[in-house]
Amino acid sequence: MGEKRSLAWYFAEHQKIDFDIFNRGIHLKRAEFLSDLIVSSNPHSILEIAAGGSILAQQVLQKLPDVKYCFNDFSPVALEHAGARIKSKNVSFIGFDIDNFYEAIIWEDYDLIICVSLEHLEHDKEILQEIPKGKKVFLSIPNIDALDHIRVLKTNEEIMERYGSILNIRKITDCTKIFKIVEAWTI
Ligand SMILES: C[S@@+](CC[C@H](N)C(=O)[O-])C[C@H]1O[C@@H](n2cnc3c(N)ncnc32)[C@H](O)[C@@H]1O
Repeated sequence: MGEKRSLAWYFAEHQKIDFDIFNRGIHLKRAEFLSDLIVSSNPHSILEIAAGGSILAQQVLQKLPDVKYCFNDFSPVALEHAGARIKSKNVSFIGFDIDNFYEAIIWEDYDLIICVSLEHLEHDKEILQEIPKGKKVFLSIPNIDALDHIRVLKTNEEIMERYGSILNIRKITDCTKIFKIVEAWTI
């Protein structure tokens, strides 16, 4: 099992890799699936926390050019990479540590919250609990372990067990062999 990693750890790791790995392959497939789902929910303002790759934001902004999209990641490499690829005037970037600053977010400003990286966040449940009741939430949860994965949820039952008392989970869909896409509302 991996563990909670610091910003310094991510910064060092991200400098070693081609960050575009998070924009292609299974990440691209997931972005295609999720962006269609997002379009059908017709949001006006989206917050994506601990985003990593920017392919999802790019696709959403192509399909919904007027949507406001706030892209959060605490890694300067991720932010710079996304900034170079997303040219929309409707995107904003916030580089704070969501595990430490989730109480400072004005959640009311967003009508859809997305997270494809909950397994990296120590306060996953607290963050979801902080979101006001009735907000739409889309999650992507991988079934694999990694050095920076704090927990691994492999089955729908494990996802329900961890988040079912915080979220009204409407649907869980397999997307590639790795990800489960969770459509939910906060309770
Ligand atoms: C690169 S993605 C990993 C892949 C991701 N699980 C996926 O399915 O696309 C994870 C991102 O979470 C970011 N991250 C991790 N902890 C964070 C935190 N506490 N606050 C903000 N961003 C965080 C990292 O900087 C990294 O870019």
